[in-house]
Amino acid sequence: MVRAHMEMVKALLDGSRSIVALTGAGVSAGSGIPTFRGPDGLWKKQRPEDLARVDAFSQHPELVWEFYNWRREKVGQCTPNPAHMALAGMDKQVPNFLLITQNVDGLHTQAGSHRLMEMHGSLWRVQCSVCTYAREDRSSLPDMPVCPVCGHLLRPGVVWFGEPLVPGVLKVAIEAISSADIFLSIGTSNLVQPAASFYQLAKDHGAVTIEINSEPTPNTGLMDFALHGKAEDILPELVLGMSD
Ligand code: APR
Repeated sequence: MVRAHMEMVKALLDGSRSIVALTGAGVSAGSGIPTFRGPDGLWKKQRPEDLARVDAFSQHPELVWEFYNWRREKVGQCTPNPAHMALAGMDKQVPNFLLITQNVDGLHTQAGSHRLMEMHGSLWRVQCSVCTYAREDRSSLPDMPVCPVCGHLLRPGVVWFGEPLVPGVLKVAIEAISSADIFLSIGTSNLVQPAASFYQLAKDHGAVTIEINSEPTPNTGLMDFALHGKAEDILPELVLGMSD
């Protein structure tokens, strides 16, 4: 990481009144949650099309539930790390702030972030695969949980490949990004749309774009600043430099 860039980013954040931060699985890596595409990533061992598509759920709901119940159990044992805490600190300090996360682990909420959008849903939400029933639920679920209203199968409240985002999310994200001074892309490989294109919208509206990631991504060369290292190391240092 270039130290001079770190100092410049600190100064920019300190003077900013409007920040949008986009996070991905790298932010939770420091909590012990595997990313999707790294060497030990979830999608290296499992094929996403077998587990994270609506047709996979129609064909093999038991396999999909086995995968999600396993993730709920693992993630349920994890706690927020300094990257989550630093972003919760930014939420308190910056007048106009929005955190958009692709993560479904709930750790930003646990860390105390309030102005937050979980654009891919949540592991801790279950919803009916047929009717409109939905609930927050952190308990240990049966292998094939059913809807208490209509008796059909419940499904995880996450957005699968090929599905639309949680309703309203894109509109709120576009509005916030279009008026931000600074756009942060943190711990995401920037390979999944539409999140991977948010930086372009920010740039088009004059924001400074900053990437914080342990390795370069396809967007790195297009960002104004790129800080390469662990989010849990970099973010606390950046937030420490911000005055109230
Ligand atoms: N700090 C910062 N970055 C890290 C860290 C860390 N400690 N550890 C890993 N990374 C980086 C990796 O180098 C990688 O570029 O985080 C990125 C994680 O990328 P992905 O695994 O692709 O995760 P993400 O970008 O969140 O995936 C997007 O894809 O499978 C879907 O719906 C799923 O929301 C997910 C979406």
